[in-house]
Amino acid sequence: MPTNAPADALEDFHDDGDTAEDFRKAVLNGLSQPQKRLPSKFFYDAKGSALFDRICTLEEYYPTRTETALLESCGKEIAVLAGPNANLIEFGSGSSVKTRILLDALDRLTAYVPIDISRDHLLAAAKTLAQDYPEVAVTPVCADFVQPLDLPKLAGTGVNLGFFPGSTIGNFRPADAAAFLKNAARAVGHGGAMVIGVDLVKDPATLHAAYNDASDVTAAFNLNLLERINRELDADFGLDGFAHYAPYNPARGCIEMHLVSRRAQQVRIAGKTFDFAIGETIHTEDSHKYTIEGFHELARRGGWTPREVWCDADSLFSVHFLDVA
Ligand code: AVJ
Repeated sequence: MPTNAPADALEDFHDDGDTAEDFRKAVLNGLSQPQKRLPSKFFYDAKGSALFDRICTLEEYYPTRTETALLESCGKEIAVLAGPNANLIEFGSGSSVKTRILLDALDRLTAYVPIDISRDHLLAAAKTLAQDYPEVAVTPVCADFVQPLDLPKLAGTGVNLGFFPGSTIGNFRPADAAAFLKNAARAVGHGGAMVIGVDLVKDPATLHAAYNDASDVTAAFNLNLLERINRELDADFGLDGFAHYAPYNPARGCIEMHLVSRRAQQVRIAGKTFDFAIGETIHTEDSHKYTIEGFHELARRGGWTPREVWCDADSLFSVHFLDVA
């Protein structure tokens, strides 16, 4: 793993993130499939990360505020379950708002390792946290956390505590979610634990509104993927040629995000031509919803033992504490 010079206030910086070539290959391959698709991890360039932060403040998007309130109210219990001198390892750290709740609640946290695909966002957030929590050793890792992880040496004598908020687990197909959980169990190691946020199955109207907000921020977030391809891969997507489409599929328990071609058209990307029929879609994201029992089953399959679960009064969202089995 290539390691760059440490940035201000940071212990170290490990960079194993996607390269321009990884992005090009993934786009050309995904758009060559019968059902065109793009990996949702590529949403999070600078503009996409900023749009996602706006999604989190939307009235319709209940997950962020619900999970944040849950973490506030169960923080002390999490601290007791985790014990002192832990190392906190966050998968997909984003803007780290929820992280601060755990950093404040945990007893003498020793080290914090944010892992994220979005290099600039990761470094900016890690720097600020390192300044605000000088007693915690902050070591950011730029990586796709789906891949097997080599964690840096961590100084904490307590538990390695994984943190995977936001129901990002829902963006995996269930088989991949189990594989991710196994990978995470291996990363935190024997005696490790994890705090994970999981969005719950609920009435389709609430789910639909959360991914089809009235101010079209989610639409802009979805369409930014095409803008990013234009910017980074010398492509000529006309953004008015595609529409955001995000229905809830009750049989799969899943919101599916697509970009629908409004007309028959051709797009040039990195010297190659792609045909789109009218109504043809690019599948850009799945967001699976779970029941508590359904998630417990998945966690067990992924090598974890459910220890505790917290849930809001309206059963919108759940926060789980898992132990490595
Ligand atoms: C990345 C899981 C937090 O699936 O709800 C939000 C991404 N996509 N609106 C989700 C997302 C559209 C989000 N998470």
